[in-house]
Amino acid sequence: MSLPQELMRAIEITRKHNKWRRFECINLIASENVMSPLAEAAYFTDMMHRYAEGKPRKRYYQGNIYTDEIELLVMELMSELLKVRFVEPRAISGTIANAAVFKNLAGPGDKALIAPVQAGAHVSHTKFGTLGALGIEHIELPFDLDTWNIDVDRAVKLIREVEPKFVTLGASVYLFPHPTKEISDAAHEVNARVIHDVAHVLGLIAGEAWPNPIHEGADVATSSTHKTFPGPQGGLIFLDNEKLYKRISKTIFPWFVSNHHLHRLPALAVTAIEMKYFGKQYAGQIVRNARAFAEALASEGFKVLAENLGFTKSHTIVIDVRDLGGGAKVAKKLEEANIIVNKNLLPWDPPEAIKDPSGIRLGVQEMTRFGMKEGDFKEVARLMRMLIINGREPHEVKERVVELRKNFIDVKYAFPIPKGVKESPLKVPMLL
Ligand SMILES: Cc1ncc(COP(=O)(O)O)c(C=O)c1O
Repeated sequence: MSLPQELMRAIEITRKHNKWRRFECINLIASENVMSPLAEAAYFTDMMHRYAEGKPRKRYYQGNIYTDEIELLVMELMSELLKVRFVEPRAISGTIANAAVFKNLAGPGDKALIAPVQAGAHVSHTKFGTLGALGIEHIELPFDLDTWNIDVDRAVKLIREVEPKFVTLGASVYLFPHPTKEISDAAHEVNARVIHDVAHVLGLIAGEAWPNPIHEGADVATSSTHKTFPGPQGGLIFLDNEKLYKRISKTIFPWFVSNHHLHRLPALAVTAIEMKYFGKQYAGQIVRNARAFAEALASEGFKVLAENLGFTKSHTIVIDVRDLGGGAKVAKKLEEANIIVNKNLLPWDPPEAIKDPSGIRLGVQEMTRFGMKEGDFKEVARLMRMLIINGREPHEVKERVVELRKNFIDVKYAFPIPKGVKESPLKVPMLL
């Protein structure tokens, strides 16, 4: 039987994507990563077809003997890794984790203080996203460009004035740790809660290269599990406060999820174990690579932000490309040469500049996972200079990018697939 044309088309599109992003690109999107082969194998399981509404051992459906076990194991592994008492892994994304926490802490007409959007807050923290959908008003915290951080003195004053229901910290452009302790002390004086969204830096926290906000006074942390933490796409909530944990946990189902995408769980367990054994090494290399890449980009002639502060303490680097054509044009040109970044608002851009902002954002976590070291990122900086500053043709640079990428195909900081693990009798290959 000949296969339908549209079926072949669907396969071909998927195949092209896999080949391009997995083997031919330098991937520098700061919010992405790849799982290890073992985690990928653990992801592709029958659990992706199942439902497990409710909490482990208190489910509404039968058939969950092993999903209960794996969910409890994930909670145990993640609590150990993050050194907290409670972990809620059922949010299917960072945005859903935020929604569940926001909804528990405030309602329509209440006020929340957030880090400014132009300084990197995630859209879910704002009136344009989840917060707005819940009817909560956002007021921006003051930001200090010299320290590339929240202005503590002015923020404390604002917290006392506004008396919000909660304050969110954390960002999608997260270069330097936000002042959790100072903000938490002020917030607690007025009975406000502090939510620290660590979606971008969860892997750095697990690898002890970034402060854990729960240990510094935040009431609750929300996250994704797929940025510097190289797990399956998903969300996470973690905290020490039992009462708050129980409240959030009771509402995540049925308020925000029914099916919590169970196939994430085995892959998350594998990734948590990888991070337990390799996390420090991985997180340390991410931070060193980001710093080296930023320095190299600056010496190639790019305007890398926060130079006075050593550019970054995370995986992320931001470049002002106003003089080079703007964020949209530069990001597109890099894509034509197989260097994948995103355009990004800078603090001085108005929100309307979202389609063509002044900056681009780069993250080193994925290529670090493929084994790149400081010297390799210097080569990427050189290629970027040739393309964006010297005006070389994208196809010329692309050839070099494809050659460079050939050296970085295998995922590092991971365990191999153990001998004796059988190939699936279903024989489902990756579409390459
Ligand atoms: C700080 C922050 N919070 C939340 C999210 C949303 O995570 P998700 O894409 O898992 O919904 C992101 C996404 O990039 C983010 O940067």
